[in-house]
Amino acid sequence: MKGLLPEIESWASIRRYDPRPIPDGVLLRILDAARRAPSWANVQPWHFIVVREKTMKSKLRRLAVGQPFVETADSVVLCLGERNAWSKEQRIMQMKALSQALGQSFDEERIKKSLDDPAYNPLLRGEEILVARLYEQLSLAIAFMILQAKHEGVGSCIVGAFANEVTAVNEELYEEVRRDLKIPQDAMILTLVTLGYPAEDPKPRPRKSFEGVVSLEKYENPFPASL
Ligand SMILES: Cc1cc2nc3c(=O)[nH]c(=O)nc-3n(C[C@H](O)[C@H](O)[C@H](O)COP(=O)(O)O)c2cc1C
Repeated sequence: MKGLLPEIESWASIRRYDPRPIPDGVLLRILDAARRAPSWANVQPWHFIVVREKTMKSKLRRLAVGQPFVETADSVVLCLGERNAWSKEQRIMQMKALSQALGQSFDEERIKKSLDDPAYNPLLRGEEILVARLYEQLSLAIAFMILQAKHEGVGSCIVGAFANEVTAVNEELYEEVRRDLKIPQDAMILTLVTLGYPAEDPKPRPRKSFEGVVSLEKYENPFPASL
């Protein structure tokens, strides 16, 4: 389809990397893109740890069930979800700061009331829903990150197959990594993203057809190509 962003049109995950290091300035822009992503009520429940050190990358490879490109990538970004960002106290503090920044009035009582409503506060829906919401926010930040990386000529691959609270495959190693990286109790490593200059040039991988995944007005009602 014509008119797509070139980074989207030519998208392909990269798992073979050139040893050339990513300059700090480029890496900085990639991470800056991530933190600018939208999130629920601007909660931004994320933190990113960039790992470039060899021994730690080797441990992260083990964490990622031996996937070799986790070790050979120039950088591995650990994408953390922070449960505390959703707490009532944090939300009120954030919203106060946001109102101030926008020069708007702040009605603390109204905000407190809204936070008793599960439509506004996923904490009221239990741990599983909270984790789902954390993934939802992080996915947007990761999409911003990988598109900026591609724009910079840097290849990336999202890694979901690794030991954490969600997969529970190697709890001991996960705890060891958490200790090594001084990750606070309320934070979880939800996704890894590997980054490096590509040493492969894969063709875009096939996707389901447009018609197979898009409908107009009703499920499976065709979306006219002429629109
Ligand atoms: C949430 C998520 C988790 C993924 N986990 C892995 C992974 O652990 N290992 C891997 O090699 N690729 C992983 N991928 C990459 C997908 O396999 C890849 O995006 C998909 O096959 C489509 O290929 P493409 O990105 O080149 O278009 C993951 C992608 C996503 C979105």
